[in-house]
Amino acid sequence: MSNPVLNIGICGFGTVGQGVWKHLSANRARLESRLGVRLNLARAAVRDLRRPRDVRIPGRLLTDDALSIARDPSIQIVCELMGGTKAARQVTLTALRAGKVVVSANKALICEHGAEIMAAARRHGGHFFFEASVAGGIPIIKALREGLVANRFPRIYGILNGTCNYILTRMKEQNAPYAEVLADAKRLGYAEADESLDVDGWDTAHKAAVLAWLAHGVWVRTDQMIVEGISRLTPADIRNAATLGFGIKLLAVITRDFRRDELSVRVHPTLLPAGNVIANVNGVFNAISVSGDVVGTTLYSGRGAGRDATASAVISDIADAASLLRHGKGAHLLGEEPVGPSRCRLAPPESIRGRYYVRLTVKDQPGVLARVASEMARHRVSIATVIQGPADRPRAASLVLTTHESDERAIGHTLRRLRSLATVLEEPVLLRIGDFAS
Ligand SMILES: NC(=O)c1ccc[n+]([C@@H]2O[C@H](COP(=O)([O-])OP(=O)(O)OC[C@H]3O[C@@H](n4cnc5c(N)ncnc54)[C@H](OP(=O)(O)O)[C@@H]3O)[C@@H](O)[C@H]2O)c1
Repeated sequence: MSNPVLNIGICGFGTVGQGVWKHLSANRARLESRLGVRLNLARAAVRDLRRPRDVRIPGRLLTDDALSIARDPSIQIVCELMGGTKAARQVTLTALRAGKVVVSANKALICEHGAEIMAAARRHGGHFFFEASVAGGIPIIKALREGLVANRFPRIYGILNGTCNYILTRMKEQNAPYAEVLADAKRLGYAEADESLDVDGWDTAHKAAVLAWLAHGVWVRTDQMIVEGISRLTPADIRNAATLGFGIKLLAVITRDFRRDELSVRVHPTLLPAGNVIANVNGVFNAISVSGDVVGTTLYSGRGAGRDATASAVISDIADAASLLRHGKGAHLLGEEPVGPSRCRLAPPESIRGRYYVRLTVKDQPGVLARVASEMARHRVSIATVIQGPADRPRAASLVLTTHESDERAIGHTLRRLRSLATVLEEPVLLRIGDFAS
């Protein structure tokens, strides 16, 4: 008896879609023999049918109507690789309502409409796989929902945006200003023309929301998170951090206090001890540390984006989909849903504790440090170290303070007071210190 044929439709034939087509075509025979099915790349959807593409496919397989792929009864697996949230949501829901498997790389879509998508999959017997949505080629979704299923997760943190990591690495290695490195990143294609999604932390926040849902069963909106980007960092911050024994990385940090049943999801530049493995993951690479209550701490690193790494994750989902369609639900018991719904609440600011790095540009005159220290003391924020140096403007000095352990509420009040002092000349820079050994 010959193996059944599964038809695959690819909505979006750009960077990722072409990568999937290329690598699935090249590895088809091996995958088919492992999965016991025939994988047929049936159709692909684009916006502009005339645009030249690196990966050539017969014109009759191309359409500019992505919904027609979602509705096509002969297609069982729909890959949504278009990006954006409007058309992508429509394609995804249409395919799921028809009981198909949808494979997605779209973290923005999942972050915004995840609850609706999962409900549609449940209601209509469809399935939604999204390995490529977080950390590109690193199989972190599979690790959380399958390999680490025995665990609860007190802490998950990591670098989830290669563009920011590339910029921070270059700033450190070449002592180069942010704007100069960003311009290079754009020239090299590492950053989009509109860089804000990456450098302001939103892309990382979308991925953090997906990981938080997988690990804790709660959808956290980006407006419920602390989200800060890297655009205010200077080479001086990176040098100061090094002097203090830290590297700076843009991190997603997801912590759960199981005693209080509080969850915190945040994205911010973080000072990590120089010996921490993730502090030494450079360039466009991503890395994630997952601490489980049974397994201890596990680490994952690899390429977080790009045609090939992302295609690797999408093809892994296509293989899971094929196995599910071939062998039935039992073969993929742990597939989509997290461990179970959770009633934990979001941690209030006073529960989010840590040490802080504060850089102030102040008038270069006597008594300023004492005034700053007394404002901090008023809010019970105690100073651990002080570095004084010249500032980038005349008659000004740079004050870099680190604090002992405090919390988000106290440091927030302190910063509001410091901002209002006539001797503080610029918006203070606040960075969190991540005292994570691994
Ligand atoms: N690139 C990465 O490294 C990476 C990594 C992880 C996840 N992702 C995610 O993967 C998804 C795709 O990213 P990408 O980099 O491949 O994007 P891309 O290069 O811009 O490709 C998008 C593709 O979708 C098509 N498209 C867009 N809107 C459409 C519509 N309404 N109808 C039909 N086709 C439409 C475009 O057609 P035209 O070519 O005709 O414009 C293009 O072929 C996004 O969700 C992204 O966040 C990307």
